[in-house]
Amino acid sequence: MQTAIEVNDLVKVYKNGVRAVDGVSFHVGRGEIFGLLGPNGAGKSTTIKILIGLLDPTAGDLRINGVDIRRHPAEIKRATGYAAQETAIDDRLTGWENITLQGRFYHLSGREIRVRATEVLEMFNLYDRRKHLTATYSGGMLKRLDIACALIHRPQILFLDEPTLGLDVQTRQVIWDYVEQLRTEHEMTIFVTTHYMEEADVLCDRVAIIDNGEIAALDTPDALKAGIGGDVIYVRFSGIDGNESALQSRIGAVSHVRQVKPTADGTYRVIVEQAGEETIPQLFMLCEQLGVTIDAVSLKKPSLDDVYLHFTGHAMRDDTENHEAHMKARFMRGRARRGK
Ligand SMILES: Nc1ncnc2c1ncn2[C@@H]1O[C@H](COP(=O)(O)OP(=O)(O)OP(=O)(O)O)[C@@H](O)[C@H]1O
Ligand SMILES: [Mg+2]
Repeated sequence: MQTAIEVNDLVKVYKNGVRAVDGVSFHVGRGEIFGLLGPNGAGKSTTIKILIGLLDPTAGDLRINGVDIRRHPAEIKRATGYAAQETAIDDRLTGWENITLQGRFYHLSGREIRVRATEVLEMFNLYDRRKHLTATYSGGMLKRLDIACALIHRPQILFLDEPTLGLDVQTRQVIWDYVEQLRTEHEMTIFVTTHYMEEADVLCDRVAIIDNGEIAALDTPDALKAGIGGDVIYVRFSGIDGNESALQSRIGAVSHVRQVKPTADGTYRVIVEQAGEETIPQLFMLCEQLGVTIDAVSLKKPSLDDVYLHFTGHAMRDDTENHEAHMKARFMRGRARRGK
C-alpha cells in the first residue's frame, strides 16, 4: 500500500512552553481510514493542524504523498482537505455563499466552483437548502456543510477533527456513511479524530491512541482489543451447594481459562485466553459431568472503550461529557460575539 501520510518524531512545543506533541510517529496508507483517539488536550488537533500546514512543527519529518510538508506548502494545500473541530461556517451567509468562498480560497474558477459545489452539496444532501442562511441550519447540517467545504478542491486526503462530536446518533451515522462513501468511491484517505469509541471501532482501519502528546497504542481495533486480554464469560450455576471450591478449581483447569472468580451476586467471572465461544461448550460438558446446572451464561468481549481505559487510565465517557459541555460553551461564546 502506498503511504499517504508519514509522521516521524513529530514534536510541537507551543510558545507558552506546552509540549503538546512529544515524539509522535505513524504512517497512514492511501485509502485508509485512520483514527486518532485520546483525551482532552492529548495533542490531536495540534497534530492535524501541523499536517495541513496551519501550524509549524517544532521538530519532525512530515510527508504527505511523499512530499515534505514544510518545503512544499502549496502542494500540501492542494492535496489535503480539513474540517476543523469548531466549524468554520459563517452563519451570516447562505450555504452556497460559504462553499463558494471556500472555492475562491483554493483559487478555483467560477465554473469549477459551480460544478463542484453542486456535486458536493448534492452528495451531502444540502443542495435544496443552499440558498438558506446557515444560521437556520441544524448542528448536523452545519457539520455536513463544513465537510462539504473541505472537499471543494477534491483533495486526496481529508482531515476531520471531531466530525461527529455533540451530534445525535442518527446524524453521526449519516456523517460516517459519507466518510465511508468518500473512501470507497473516491479512494480518499481519511484521518479522523473522535471521542466515540464504537464509531472508531466500526469505521477505522487502524487507530492510534494518543495521551500526553505520545502514542500509547496503534493497531487495528481488533488487534488492540485482542491485545489487552481475553474474553470474559459470566456464568451462574445451581445445584453446587457446598462444592463451590471444587467447581472453581475444575473450571480453572479447563484449557485456556486464565482466571475464575465468584462475584458478589454468586455469578462466576471466567477470563479466557481464546474466543469465549470456544470455552462455553467446555463449561457445559464439565457441568454435566459434575451434575451441576448452568442457569445463565453471557459473554463480554473487550471493547475499544476497554482498550482506551487500559492505555489512558480513564473512561471515554467522562471525557466526552466534559468535552461536549466545553464545546457548547465555546459555541455560545461565538454566537454572543456576533451579537446573537
Ligand atoms: N495555541 C496554543 N497555545 C498554547 N497551548 C496550546 C495551544 N493550542 C493547544 N494548546 C495546548 O496543547 C495541548 C494539546 O492541545 P490539542 O488542542 O492539540 O488537544 P486535543 O487532543 O485536540 O484536545 P481536545 O480533545 O480537547 O480537542 C493542550 O495542553 C492545549 O492546552
Ligand atoms: Mg482537539
